[in-house]
Amino acid sequence: MICIKVPVKEAQNIKKELLENDLIDKDYFLKKDKDFVYFPVKKSFPSKHDFVRKILKKKKERAGLKTTLTKKLKKEDLEFLRRSMDVIGDIAILEIPRELEKKKKLIAQEVLNANKYIKTVLKKGKHEGVFRTQKLEHLAGEKTKEAIYKENNVQLKLDVEKVYFSPRLSNDRKRIAKLINKGEEILVMFSGCAPYVCVIAKNTNAKNVCGVEINPTAHNYALQNVLLNKLNNTGVFLGDVKSVVPKLAKKYDRILMPLPKNATEFLDVALNASKKGTIIHLYDFKREDELKESIEQIKQACAKAKKKCKILDTVRCGQHAPRTFRYCIEFQIL
Ligand SMILES: C[S@@+](CC[C@H](N)C(=O)[O-])C[C@H]1O[C@@H](n2cnc3c(N)ncnc32)[C@H](O)[C@@H]1O
Repeated sequence: MICIKVPVKEAQNIKKELLENDLIDKDYFLKKDKDFVYFPVKKSFPSKHDFVRKILKKKKERAGLKTTLTKKLKKEDLEFLRRSMDVIGDIAILEIPRELEKKKKLIAQEVLNANKYIKTVLKKGKHEGVFRTQKLEHLAGEKTKEAIYKENNVQLKLDVEKVYFSPRLSNDRKRIAKLINKGEEILVMFSGCAPYVCVIAKNTNAKNVCGVEINPTAHNYALQNVLLNKLNNTGVFLGDVKSVVPKLAKKYDRILMPLPKNATEFLDVALNASKKGTIIHLYDFKREDELKESIEQIKQACAKAKKKCKILDTVRCGQHAPRTFRYCIEFQIL
């Protein structure tokens, strides 16, 4: 395996650079001795450091669902099976297509057998209602719906049925955290069990991060997660943002609106809590050709609130349905 040989003292910085440029071969473990770290790389490149050949241990591949089931299901059944599953702590949530309903328990048992770290397998439901929660059917393993999930240097405890949570948004949480400047005061509307609140509070120099959530169970976990992550620059509040945010009577540097189904209905509340320079991140499910509608709604809400705004960016941060994406529309109050 080709490796870049880096003095131990420089290893952290070099690792960051290698990751940023997608040069590390993540299929292998690195090697270390007293003086040097050997990072496996995909190719050599111009560098002041030497490249050497080393025998490295290969990481075990995490079995994809299709790979696990190839021997157990017919080829046509496999066609119906979605490639991925969501894993939250030691709970796996599987999307079972109608055509495989009769084989759901067999599939779930195979997932359990193939992945030592999974203790419970549940069948995915549909996000519904104001709380955006989903009914999850138990298929195999321990009968629990509570998990502790780790991402972006935080731990999040939650009941996966009673609280909305998506591990697929961890990259978006990281992206938002990277945008934050020292001393910012941040409002996270629709904060759930506090994933955005905790990731931002833990990984940035924000002055304060405040979350507002209407689901009492999610709020309860948010309180626990703030404690679990030993955060002291946060506040989480229970209630409807329409009544809680005006009572907080504050103006924020940044406001997050992660309620893609109908966040635009709360633009008046966000604008009242904004000041000159505030950046608002509004999430919306849209097809690419419909994005201009959300931008128009933002402009109209700003005009109504007698505020000027500038659209900074539209970021595609997930897929909702075929050709429909989760967009984050970012705009600044001028
Ligand atoms: C899509 S989830 C996002 C939760 C969390 N931010 C996350 O990323 O995991 C939207 C959340 O908004 C909450 N919610 C819906 N309407 C609300 C309102 N009017 N006021 C406060 N929270 C609300 C729901 O209960 C749900 O937890």
